[in-house]
Amino acid sequence: MKIKKLITAITLTVSALGVTQVAHAKNFRLGLITPANHIWTESASRFADDFKEASNGEHQVSIFPGGQLGNEAAMLQQLQTGALDMAFITAAELSNRHQDMGILFAPFLVESVDQVPALLASEPAQNLLDNLVQKTGVVGIAYGTGGLRQIASVNPVDTIEDLKGKKLRITPQAPLQDFYRAMGAAPVSLPLSAVYDAMTNKQADGTDMDLEIIVGLKLYEIAETTVLSNHMMWPVVGVVSARVWNTLSDEDKQNIQELMKKRLEETGPLYSEKERTWAEELKATGKPVKEVGPEFFESITPKWEEKWTKQSPLLKDLRAASTDLKQ
Ligand code: BEZ
Repeated sequence: MKIKKLITAITLTVSALGVTQVAHAKNFRLGLITPANHIWTESASRFADDFKEASNGEHQVSIFPGGQLGNEAAMLQQLQTGALDMAFITAAELSNRHQDMGILFAPFLVESVDQVPALLASEPAQNLLDNLVQKTGVVGIAYGTGGLRQIASVNPVDTIEDLKGKKLRITPQAPLQDFYRAMGAAPVSLPLSAVYDAMTNKQADGTDMDLEIIVGLKLYEIAETTVLSNHMMWPVVGVVSARVWNTLSDEDKQNIQELMKKRLEETGPLYSEKERTWAEELKATGKPVKEVGPEFFESITPKWEEKWTKQSPLLKDLRAASTDLKQ
């Protein structure tokens, strides 16, 4: 059944002030594609609890995980029309509408997940967030961290040549397509929920993925090699529909801004801690793991860089912030 937005106008008498104010109790809806037990989804639930408390129980936020409201492209459309209030959405999806955001997927911007929060807090990354509303019609509240990207392959992988011609699942965005095409792979676009089956029935020879999902979905069971490469960041962005935002009181805006930001920023330390555990869990399975660094991709990273330097002049600023971080 179609879920209708519940908007109930209630009248509050603010006796202390001796005036009558009209406040709007609202049940906001927040969508994500990640499953219920994913760090992003748990962070969204904590934000919902905080916001309810901060509004003295007046507002609620219902969380719709696992793509219940559609894929990210569909959610973005709903956000633009105001049919959906909020979402935690991948920066990758946002890069389809805000091309410059693709620079967040420059290979090897960070050496480990520990550096992600600082890079996302840098001026170039924050500028991308500030410009989101003009480009997409959604207000970018804050970034959160996601696991760094790895490659799970159903075939053995020793060198990058082993990925040539292989159907590798990615999410459908230009920066990822450019990366995999540069290695001569055939990127195929599949939703998260289809990855395990696609690799099982060889519809895909592997996937670009993070350790949280590789371990959570036990993708290592069907992977002949998991390439631990940490080749890209995977930020999430907390967003509010601009149409909805414009109807909110200053107090509600401030609460959303502070509380959503706080919960999203907490994902940084969580990934720092958990990525180590997931890597250990993966290695403990005894399944082949190949740990590689930037040199594994040295034949392809310059191609990506050349294209994106032309496409987005902001890349050089982000690379400079990344260089500062690594020192
Ligand atoms: C993916 O589609 O690969 C993905 C999306 C969100 C979080 C983690 C992975």
